[in-house]
Amino acid sequence: MKERMLMDSISRIRKEHSIEKEELALLLETKDQEVCTYLQKSADEVRKQVYGNQIYMRGLIEFTNYCKNDCYYCGIRCSNKKADRYRLSEEQILSCCQSGYELGFRTFVLQGGEDPYYTDERICDIVSSIRQRYPDCAITLSIGEKSRESYRKMFDAGADRYLLRHETADEAHYRLLHPETMSLENRIRCLYDLKAIGYQVGCGFMVGSPGQTVDTLYEDLQLILDLQPQMVGIGPFIPHQDTPFSDKEGGTLERTLRLLSLIRLLHPHVLLPATTALGTIHPKGRERGIQAGGNVVMPNLSPTDVRKKYMLYDNKICTGDEAAECRFCMQKRMESIGYEVVVDRGDFK
Ligand code: 5AD
Ligand code: FES
Repeated sequence: MKERMLMDSISRIRKEHSIEKEELALLLETKDQEVCTYLQKSADEVRKQVYGNQIYMRGLIEFTNYCKNDCYYCGIRCSNKKADRYRLSEEQILSCCQSGYELGFRTFVLQGGEDPYYTDERICDIVSSIRQRYPDCAITLSIGEKSRESYRKMFDAGADRYLLRHETADEAHYRLLHPETMSLENRIRCLYDLKAIGYQVGCGFMVGSPGQTVDTLYEDLQLILDLQPQMVGIGPFIPHQDTPFSDKEGGTLERTLRLLSLIRLLHPHVLLPATTALGTIHPKGRERGIQAGGNVVMPNLSPTDVRKKYMLYDNKICTGDEAAECRFCMQKRMESIGYEVVVDRGDFK
């Protein structure tokens, strides 16, 4: 019986932390409800073994939407002349941190496009100011590809973690998503450099990006097994109207949930967010992401007046809400499904 076989696969993946391409194909395609439930239940158990019912929250500060890159999927790509560009000053960033701290955030994620205005020196100044004021908080950077030396300086200034989604581990697929100025090789180099320096590192990808197949997803999972990142960020691809991918299909809730569960089983200790993109394609997307094995949520801390401008994809949620609203909305959402949002740096266990 095929269902029995798939359940056995799930148990084996959980035990051995490895997956065959054929298993991945079957687990992504199956329509059997029992198999899907078993996959989620297994991932939920594994997460509970490591992290209990605690959910970590990160305050996301989107501090610039200028970007020198031109990734075909992204709403803030440099060719999108309709994007209304902004930068936050150091003062504004610190004020986000202050309200965030009062709301119980103990991790600040500084995310932005690859904006040359923020030189290493400016980033290091911002990081050391935050480090000095909030010695008990984790500082996460998500500002793209840099040299090993730059990463080192920012680490020495006090950054602890770095998010850089690899986007796809397949060379040909990478070429389909990015212009020639970018390379998969450099992106992977960045991730290994960050890890070697001592950052807690996050890679990740969009689910359902144009050209993604079972084969490319298989390579994504192998990269995760190889790199052993502390964090993995995945969310559905959502087309943005002013990009070359405006007419492409978006990723689905169902496939994103299955991949979240598989990543939890393959890499049990991973910090795995239920992303805003997941919440954007379904009203209960983030709750479902947690139930599928996630253990992190990242409410927005950016000032309300810039939120609508950090539009990576269409219809992004939470763009009209104050930081405090998102914070407590998220807590309510997590409690509604039996989880507890904790005031904690939420380090990798
Ligand atoms: N849909 C979903 N996610 C996107 N990202 C960029 N553009 C989109 C989109 N159209 C993701 C990328 C990037 C992260 C910050 O946001 O994976 O790494
Ligand atoms: Fe932002 Fe619910 S999390 S409004």
